[in-house]
Amino acid sequence: MAYSATLLPGDGIGPEVIQAAQRVLEATGVAFDWDVQQAGLGAFEATGDPLPQAVLDSIARTRLALKGPLTTPVGTGFRSINVRLRQHFDLYANVRPAQSLPNTDGPFDGLDILLYRENTEGLYAGIEYFDERNQIADSIARVTRKGSEKIIRFAFEDAKRRGRKRLTLVHKANILKLSGGMFLSIGREMAKDYPGIAFDDRIIDNMAMQLVIHPEKYDCLVTTNLFGDILSDLMAGLVGGLGVTGAANIGDDCAIFEAVHGSAPDIAGQGIANPTAVIRSSEMMLRHIGEMAAADALRRALHATYEDATHLTSDLGGSASTEAFAAHLAERVAQEMETAQV
Ligand code: NAI
Ligand code: MG
Repeated sequence: MAYSATLLPGDGIGPEVIQAAQRVLEATGVAFDWDVQQAGLGAFEATGDPLPQAVLDSIARTRLALKGPLTTPVGTGFRSINVRLRQHFDLYANVRPAQSLPNTDGPFDGLDILLYRENTEGLYAGIEYFDERNQIADSIARVTRKGSEKIIRFAFEDAKRRGRKRLTLVHKANILKLSGGMFLSIGREMAKDYPGIAFDDRIIDNMAMQLVIHPEKYDCLVTTNLFGDILSDLMAGLVGGLGVTGAANIGDDCAIFEAVHGSAPDIAGQGIANPTAVIRSSEMMLRHIGEMAAADALRRALHATYEDATHLTSDLGGSASTEAFAAHLAERVAQEMETAQV
């Protein structure tokens, strides 16, 4: 049996890293029936529409997608397709782990922090006004009780299922008394349902500093959309950079897996991008569909590959191409699957 899934190669380094991930997934023996679709800047240039209806129809049917990064024009142009996809399919939880790998030259070893980012509202709600006459720009952060309850509940439940011990809610409720205040009060109230998980909170600016100095003190974080976007890149920097951090966008009956990083136009087309991030997203996808043995094999193979450090990409000081890294990892994954079956 093959899993039906949508594949969005994306823009920039997207097609290169997605192809690498496909190759590694293939090595697990778990079969996917990919419906390949185009979205983003490439689709816009080809068809005039950055989010063709066919993409929405495909994901509506498969409820499962692996996607490469999509380029969003800065300052002007169409709205982010990433944000639109997350809102359209109500993928309210963006799970972004920062987990150390060997030989990544991050400033810390042994980190394992889970960030739960609210993924559909806050400053990304798309409520923006421009008063032409007075030259005043308003970008409104919309925080709803329902949306806050969903992401905070998700964070507690997921942390509990994974046996995690502590959840820190990150906010700016001292200044954003209404939106941040409601988010924080919902967290405090809900914490009473989870006596096994220690709950506390931090103001975002202090949290940024704490993560740079003492990340090992943190376990799970839950926060609103913009803070989660920024903190997850910061956390990527703690464990070896954007080349190694995967992520998942999860809703009640649909999920899209993608890396934290963007389309990296500065290195696109050179075959040197690190595909680890989207490969880790693929591992999350395997766990999401219940293919635990394949996910475990992939994780072991990835750790072994980093332990050896013979096939690292240039972002981590190695000289392997995207393709060489993927070929090496795929071979190890196949071996791991064989060993697991004996
Ligand atoms: P970026 O994440 O694309 O790149 C930041 C830096 O990290 C660059 O120096 C890049 O070369 C490096 N980098 C990123 N991924 C890498 C990888 N796999 N291997 C090696 N190095 C890697 O962020 P940037 O430049 O701010 O954004 C570029 C475009 O991507 C923008 O249009 C932005 O809107 C879009 N974007 C899309 C996302 C998505 O589709 N989920 C997420 C973030 C940005
Ligand atoms: Mg980001």
